[in-house]
Amino acid sequence: TRVAVVFGGRSSEHAISCVTAGAVMAAIDRDRYEVLPIGIARDGRWVLPPAGIRLAIEDGRLPEVTGDGSALALPFDPAAGGLMVVEPGRVPSTLGDVDVVLPLLHGPYGEDGTIQGMLDLVGVRYVGAGVLASAVGMDKGYMKLVWQARGLPVGPYALIGDREWRRERKRVVDEVKELGLADGRPVFVKPARAGSSMGITRVTTEDALEAAVEAAREHDPKVIVEAAVEGREIECGVLQGLDDGPPDASLPAEVTMAGGHDFYDFETKYLDSATSMTIPPDLPPAAIEEVRRIAVQAFEALDCEGLARVDFFYTPEGRWILNEINTMPGCTPTSAFPKMWAATGLDYPAMVDRLIQTALH
Ligand code: DAL
Ligand code: MG
Repeated sequence: TRVAVVFGGRSSEHAISCVTAGAVMAAIDRDRYEVLPIGIARDGRWVLPPAGIRLAIEDGRLPEVTGDGSALALPFDPAAGGLMVVEPGRVPSTLGDVDVVLPLLHGPYGEDGTIQGMLDLVGVRYVGAGVLASAVGMDKGYMKLVWQARGLPVGPYALIGDREWRRERKRVVDEVKELGLADGRPVFVKPARAGSSMGITRVTTEDALEAAVEAAREHDPKVIVEAAVEGREIECGVLQGLDDGPPDASLPAEVTMAGGHDFYDFETKYLDSATSMTIPPDLPPAAIEEVRRIAVQAFEALDCEGLARVDFFYTPEGRWILNEINTMPGCTPTSAFPKMWAATGLDYPAMVDRLIQTALH
């Protein structure tokens, strides 16, 4: 079975995608799968990365697909057997058939349905959610809308569209304040479509709101403002069921931060050891059962496939509030997703194998 592992990409989560890919490629069983690594540079060029490319964070340095390599023609050419290689001054040649693609891309142009649509067009199977689920899962506004419509618990939020912000800023600020700032409670300002906490600000005063919206708009002209939910941060992994069965949820993980960080931001996620993860968290067994059940419902509400990580808050009153879903969760060595599955009895290689097998069937 020939597996193309696609990583890097145009989003701000480029480096995290590289780290995920490094870990996945290290775990793939090479006796069963032939691996074809394909990098997408930050400018969108598809390349065959050099053999020794560093795909780990070393001394705080993030990895990157630089674009030095052979450029690939796009899209896949099904008649020619899949991917084409185009090297300067040479006749294009084929890379041969690919049985399944692992689009290990986080964020826009990867986790949002764009590459999924391209693969659908040319009829190549891939791991993970399809076009609609990827697009909805990338957009924090639409994901909440769908969950609300299905009766699933989400916190209060407001959306700020591009034109609204440019033309009706005063009204927008007045409205958004009502989410908490007016009574001294913080809000989170986020790009609607980004990941790894990029562009997110925790805002505690009204004065800071505009700058926070502008910071989010660096990533996406569509912005979401969420009331801060008081509660513990708990995540749960979901995998598509085997043999046509329902999806399975992993044991949940609780993320806790050392002092000095306001929230689970990029630094705490990847660059320092300020976070710790407890799997399973210290919670009543009924609460653990409930979060696993809601995680599966959240996955199914969006028509997800393959895998997803669902992030929650557990309030002091014992209620679960959905925060977000990630249809291509980080699978770096420090990421929650593979750790939760390992604790549930599926180690990293077995998890990767299951992803490939469910995508092939
Ligand atoms: N968006 C990052 C990669 C995650 O959710 O794990
Ligand atoms: Mg996310």
